[in-house]
Amino acid sequence: MKRFLLVAVLLILVCVPVAVLLFLYNLPIDTRDPSPQQPIAFSHRLHAGDYSIDCRYCHRGVEVSPVAGIPPMATCQSCHMFIANDRPEVAKLLKFIERKEPVEWVRVYHLPEHVYFPHMMHIRAGLNCEKCHDKVASMERIERNVSLEMGWCLGCHRDYEASIDCWACHI
Ligand code: HEC
Ligand code: HEC
Ligand code: HEC
Ligand code: HEC
Ligand code: HEC
Repeated sequence: MKRFLLVAVLLILVCVPVAVLLFLYNLPIDTRDPSPQQPIAFSHRLHAGDYSIDCRYCHRGVEVSPVAGIPPMATCQSCHMFIANDRPEVAKLLKFIERKEPVEWVRVYHLPEHVYFPHMMHIRAGLNCEKCHDKVASMERIERNVSLEMGWCLGCHRDYEASIDCWACHI
């Protein structure tokens, strides 16, 4: 009986951590918050919607490089030195700029290291931002509505007869 107990305890000690690790490893990517709170309440609805600032004004890489890029403080500063600098969220922004401290925006769309995603090829193929990022210009806070799983990429690649070769995305 004692020996049975010992074996049972050992089994539990080994199996539980293994099960937990396996569970964490297999968590699908979209259990991460699809709409995280940001350090500054930046509104796409206001900037890209109401004021019609072009997406490319802030995400300059999108047509020419794999990464769209998040705008540096200088981009915000050019307007907010003068505009709305009495608002609490803009005051927060100006404090970051004063301290020369970059804002740590929380990523919403993010692929694992082993996947290559070239923005420029998709823009050149005529796809607009909405196709993958939904109606950003009407979002107060960015919200991710796609899975970013491999099947999502492959589905559209089949529709457009783009490459489904493993090496296209895994380099
Ligand atoms: C075919 C789908 C697709 C289209 C079209 C697309 N994106 Fe993306 N975007 C993605 C994916 C996937 C990621 C995540 C990339 C990564 O983590 O490597 C992403 C990431 C981003 C990011 C985060 C920073 C970065 O570069 O990784 C920004 C900003 C962005 N996209 C803006 C845009 C804008 C603006 C447009 C339109 C001009 C656009 N995207 C068009 C799929 C798309
Ligand atoms: C081309 C000019 C321009 C740029 C660039 C710009 N903004 Fe703005 N921003 C505005 C305008 C216009 C308003 C609205 C003022 C109003 O409501 O009267 C605004 C409002 C805001 C507000 C206040 C919203 C509220 O009502 O409380 C915040 C916060 C903000 N912007 C953050 C940013 C950040 C962060 C960046 C850089 C990523 C940025 N802005 C870049 C023009 C700009
Ligand atoms: C005034 C600057 C500005 C404009 C214009 C702008 N963005 Fe952004 N964008 C930002 C900033 C700052 C962030 C990071 C904070 C956040 O997620 O809200 C961001 C984040 C994003 C993200 C999420 C990136 C990630 O993975 O975390 C996407 C997608 C995106 N923008 C798409 C667009 C699209 C599409 C447009 C045009 C309809 C657009 N943006 C217009 C400044 C801008
Ligand atoms: C909404 C449709 C759509 C989605 C979603 C999409 N793609 Fe694409 N992708 C395309 C199209 C169309 C092309 C073809 C561009 C060309 O041939 O000019 C392409 C081309 C590519 C290429 C270049 C292939 C080559 O021939 O070298 C890569 C790499 C790629 N996509 C990766 C991805 C990844 C990774 C994802 C998912 C995270 C993804 N794509 C999601 C439509 C899409
Ligand atoms: C159009 C782009 C694309 C193509 C083509 C593609 N993959 Fe993927 N693959 C992805 C993306 C995106 C992920 C990340 C999915 C995630 O994190 O949920 C991924 C993840 C994976 C993973 C890791 C599994 C996981 O759950 O993280 C393996 C293994 C894999 N792919 C193998 C392949 C093989 C084999 C092929 C060829 C038959 C292939 N892929 C073709 C986009 C692609």
